Amino acid sequence: MLIDGYGRVATDLRVSLTDRCNLRCTYCMPEEGLAWLAKPDLLTDDEIVRLVGIAVTRLGVTEVRFTGGEPLLRPGLTGIVERCAALTPRPRLSLTTNGIGLARTAPALKAAGLDRVNVSLDTLRPDVFAALTRRKRHHDVLEGLAAARAAGLDPVKVNSVLMPGLNADEAPDLLAWAVENHYELRFIEQMPLDAQHGWRREAMISAEDILASLRTRFTLTPEGEDERGSAPAERWLVDGGPARVGVIGSVTRPFCGACDRTRLTADGQIRTCLFATEETDLRGALRSGAGDDELAARWRTAMLGKKAGSGLDDPAFLQPRRPMSAIGG
Ligand code: GTP
Ligand code: 5AD
Ligand code: SF4
Repeated sequence: MLIDGYGRVATDLRVSLTDRCNLRCTYCMPEEGLAWLAKPDLLTDDEIVRLVGIAVTRLGVTEVRFTGGEPLLRPGLTGIVERCAALTPRPRLSLTTNGIGLARTAPALKAAGLDRVNVSLDTLRPDVFAALTRRKRHHDVLEGLAAARAAGLDPVKVNSVLMPGLNADEAPDLLAWAVENHYELRFIEQMPLDAQHGWRREAMISAEDILASLRTRFTLTPEGEDERGSAPAERWLVDGGPARVGVIGSVTRPFCGACDRTRLTADGQIRTCLFATEETDLRGALRSGAGDDELAARWRTAMLGKKAGSGLDDPAFLQPRRPMSAIGG
């Protein structure tokens, strides 16, 4: 079991497969991209499957989510999914993606054992998409979403970050579109994890702002804490249901007390939290011949250092050195 010093148990593993991305969202990274990890520093497919295997068979992890950067850029993704789906007990497998390339890969991913997918889409307007992501790929994302649903990935969730002056007025339109297309939409408060360190609380569209905007067009009824469990999203029934909308209020409505996460970066470091300032190196141990027992023990010890919360409200808060795109969200 991966239990921390506050009694929380991590059963949900997020694995970043690459720090690279084919978009350049303005709230995430600069136009020129970042200093990407070098190939030899990345865990190989075999190393990833081995570490996921240790997490699942020895450490009580039941949910594995593949993230990036953009995980569809990882050539071996389908094989990794297939091998993780063959583990006993079989973990639930999900993917967080920007959707580009999903139109082509969704059927193979489903066949390999992927259960569900979360796709990032911040706007319904192609021109706003181009301004926000610096790439003209809006149509690819819509096609990717449709293909994910057609392939039987279920649920298909959509993640949206609202930015003032860009897409902040789109919340009700996004929700109407998501309800019509049977996607579960979640709005995310922007967090101070951008590579440029440009985040300002005053510029963030808060959970309260989002709900007020949605209520101009929809009736929202809280779903209730019982159904939430450890999920970051608080959910509301839309116009009586069954459609739902979620809000991930990491900044103004933190959910750290129920956190059940542990993270593995693409270069083999354990992170106990999105906002952790320290990491535990598993790659070095693995490459110097450590056995499964030792790797599991290192992972357990790492989790004991997990902080109670994100520290966002602490006046001395410092952004972690690794940006969101290299942590995997
Ligand atoms: P499910 O609810 O299992 O579908 O996944 P999720 O919403 O946790 O995953 P996803 O990758 O879609 O993440 C959506 C947003 O939630 C992203 O902005 C993540 O950074 C954020 N998020 C995920 N895990 C955490 C966490 O432990 N803490 C905080 N503060 N935010 C998180
Ligand atoms: N704060 C909140 N969400 C972010 N994302 C990327 N950067 C941030 C940030 N600084 C979102 C992406 C994607 C999800 C995985 O995380 O838009 O939907
Ligand atoms: Fe890529 Fe996601 Fe960052 Fe956008 S937010 S640039 S999709 S890693």
